[in-house]
Amino acid sequence: MIKPVKGFSKLTKQEKVSWIVSSFFKNNPDAESIIKKYWNDDNVLQQLHDEFIENTITNYYLPFGVAPNFLINGKLFAIPMAIEESSVVAAASKAAKFWLDRGGFKAKVISTTKIGQVHFMFTGDKSILNDFFSVVKSKLISEAKSITKNMEKRGGGIKIIELVDKTAVLENYYQLHCSFETLDAMGANFINSCLEQFAKTFQSEAKHFNGFTEEERNIEIVMSILSNYVPDCIVRAEVSCPVSELNEDAGVSPEDFSDRFVRAVQIAQVEPYRAVTHNKGIMNGIDAVVLATGNDFRAVEAGVHAYAARNGSYSSLTQATVENGIFKFWIELPLALGTVGGLTNLHPLVKLALEMLEKPSAKELMQIIAVAGLAQNFGALRSLTTTGIQKGHMKMHLMNILNQMGASVNEKQQIARYFEGKTVVHSDVVAKFKELRAL
Ligand code: MEV
Repeated sequence: MIKPVKGFSKLTKQEKVSWIVSSFFKNNPDAESIIKKYWNDDNVLQQLHDEFIENTITNYYLPFGVAPNFLINGKLFAIPMAIEESSVVAAASKAAKFWLDRGGFKAKVISTTKIGQVHFMFTGDKSILNDFFSVVKSKLISEAKSITKNMEKRGGGIKIIELVDKTAVLENYYQLHCSFETLDAMGANFINSCLEQFAKTFQSEAKHFNGFTEEERNIEIVMSILSNYVPDCIVRAEVSCPVSELNEDAGVSPEDFSDRFVRAVQIAQVEPYRAVTHNKGIMNGIDAVVLATGNDFRAVEAGVHAYAARNGSYSSLTQATVENGIFKFWIELPLALGTVGGLTNLHPLVKLALEMLEKPSAKELMQIIAVAGLAQNFGALRSLTTTGIQKGHMKMHLMNILNQMGASVNEKQQIARYFEGKTVVHSDVVAKFKELRAL
């Protein structure tokens, strides 16, 4: 068992690596060189990455791919995606191409409000607390002016501050429930700074509010923090076409295809076990673009899944219908994103990704990312309801299997050629590889 280490963050990077190697890799002579293989020769770039977090010892690569041919609201995009799962970019590209020939994707932002809360405990007369809130509300806003003035100049800022009584669910628990417009910034720092200022003002003003008793003056602020649940920061993306124009190559008639597809979506609407996987597939597309554009995928994940369960049962984010011979498929989901601030100004690949998307506003990025999610779901359901998922998935996975076995470039080419048009099965790949090596 290893011993606790003191002052780890103060060690140099080499000292950290040495500690890790001597603690965990005594029997692995390659560990240190593997760690260092991922260091960048460009010292400035490496230092930038080192300083993103504490205790960086190396870099962790993910493939950065591009899914071209996305027609969104009449404009063509090539969408950058950072993801390790083999079939995701291929499926997105295929869905993009499919809808390119059928009018493309339509997307629109429905709302952009973000939420933050000051959680506090108050023991005393509720009606006096209400009086205090009415008196102090304008001061909450005025004392946060130094934080909000630039955002306000650009058209954003604090929208609403409400006092919410939560004592029915937890004794003495109240909130300042606040909504914000943060424009092109994700806004986490802006919102949290505002909230902490509200809390300070609220607590200090309470100290000398005449209506309160001595006990009531001691408002206990528990915490001030934004919410990643953003059901009023919503984007919608959709595709539609006549049923007769569906599915030219999946081996089923367009009518059968649309029926199966709609049924698959209905199942995800009513069956949580399926809904989770259905939405996971959507998040394959969403997270990949969120990550490539330097946004916070954990925040997006948390908010999206909470939204998927908003009606009390976890359900599909997408919907599909066939009406009067028209197939329609759409997604509606919350996305709190930024295209300025945070990593967007720092990470060279993030900057490149945003440039590829022609420097979108946060609203435009919401639309692009919703489309990526819808496309991914279309690709998954199209395979699942026709050929099955493994055919395409294993085809993309073939290179991973061959790399795991240490196949040479030549061997990979020969085996890929052998599996063209065949279903890739792991054991068949191993057998083919062994056969080739035995020759
Ligand atoms: C795999 O990463 C995603 C899928 O399972 C999604 C789905 O089942 O809809 C294929």
